[in-house]
Amino acid sequence: MAEKLLEIRKLTTGFVTEKGLVKATDQISIRVDKGQTVCLVGESGSGKSVTSLAIMRLIDYAGGMILEGNINFHGQDLAVKKQEEMRDIRGNQIAMIFQDPMSSLNPVFTVGEQIAESLQLHQNKSSKEAMQMAIDLLKLVGIPAPEIRARQYPHELSGGMCQRIVIAIALACNPELLIADEPTTALDVTVQAQILDLLRKLQAELGMSILLITHDMGVAAEIADRIAVMYAGAIVEEGTVEEIFDHPSHPYTIGLLQSIPGFAGGRGGELYTIKGTIPPIGQLPPGCRFHPRCPHAMEVCSMKEPPDFMITDDHRTACWLFQDKPVQADNKDGVRQA
Ligand SMILES: Nc1ncnc2c1ncn2[C@@H]1O[C@H](COP(=O)(O)OP(=O)(O)O)[C@@H](O)[C@H]1O
Ligand SMILES: [Mg+2]
Repeated sequence: MAEKLLEIRKLTTGFVTEKGLVKATDQISIRVDKGQTVCLVGESGSGKSVTSLAIMRLIDYAGGMILEGNINFHGQDLAVKKQEEMRDIRGNQIAMIFQDPMSSLNPVFTVGEQIAESLQLHQNKSSKEAMQMAIDLLKLVGIPAPEIRARQYPHELSGGMCQRIVIAIALACNPELLIADEPTTALDVTVQAQILDLLRKLQAELGMSILLITHDMGVAAEIADRIAVMYAGAIVEEGTVEEIFDHPSHPYTIGLLQSIPGFAGGRGGELYTIKGTIPPIGQLPPGCRFHPRCPHAMEVCSMKEPPDFMITDDHRTACWLFQDKPVQADNKDGVRQA
């Protein structure tokens, strides 16, 4: 059996707002094994970034908090770690990259200096050693003429190159887990494909695990081993990439798949959009959180929140259409409370 690296169990997070405490994620469970890429997919506002901030415990600084659940990483629960301990884990064992490479880079240092700084900080290298390693990392992330590029400033490089630099900085600490929050969203389509190729190649070479966050099922198709579909703070379906694409079960997942341009399940030439909008945080409907937008909603859907039903041993869906399937063992003590 694959070796677990990260196991999030029933993680509930929230923010204090003028309306009181509101949940941003609701009992979500996600597992990432060693060497695996898991994609967390969902529309904007579903709680994907909050999930990544919770894993890194940066949520504490964003005015949010962990209300319930565990974040097991290497047998330690990150949900209860002190910030001093988290500082060691962040950047050494878990690295994170964000959507906009420009805002992650410092405009007044060369890219070589920025990678070298990370190496000096995390690996205690001398400045000369660190600069040589920085050049090697630039090669690793596919930057041509790395000796020259190392001496350039971020504004001298394209967006795609800058994202490669950001990835190089993240790799400088040799992380076991890389969390990438919409790493290609700010890039144009060809560059996006190159960055996904790069992440795939790095993962194969370095054996790290990746948790990639995206609103784009097309991106997940390119890179995921497993996909967790998130809607309004909950994981509504989870399974291998093959299961999700070949046997999608949750109507929300099916809607997301049908919105991929050119996807076989799509509706001819016209691009499908899921009707309605995601409810704002703190204003969930009763029952299934997706039912007001669901083309298959039944009476039960507005009354009771669905538990996770097991489509196969390895594929779960929180949808009453599958109520003939067994309920996931974890949920037997009761349905998730809204
Ligand atoms: N600092 C914050 N204060 C209050 N609410 C927040 C904060 N950050 C995020 N949220 C809320 O949490 C929900 C999930 O946001 P987010 O994780 O950013 O979504 P996604 O990354 O999936 O687009 C949103 O409804 C958002 O308004
Ligand atoms: Mg986000």
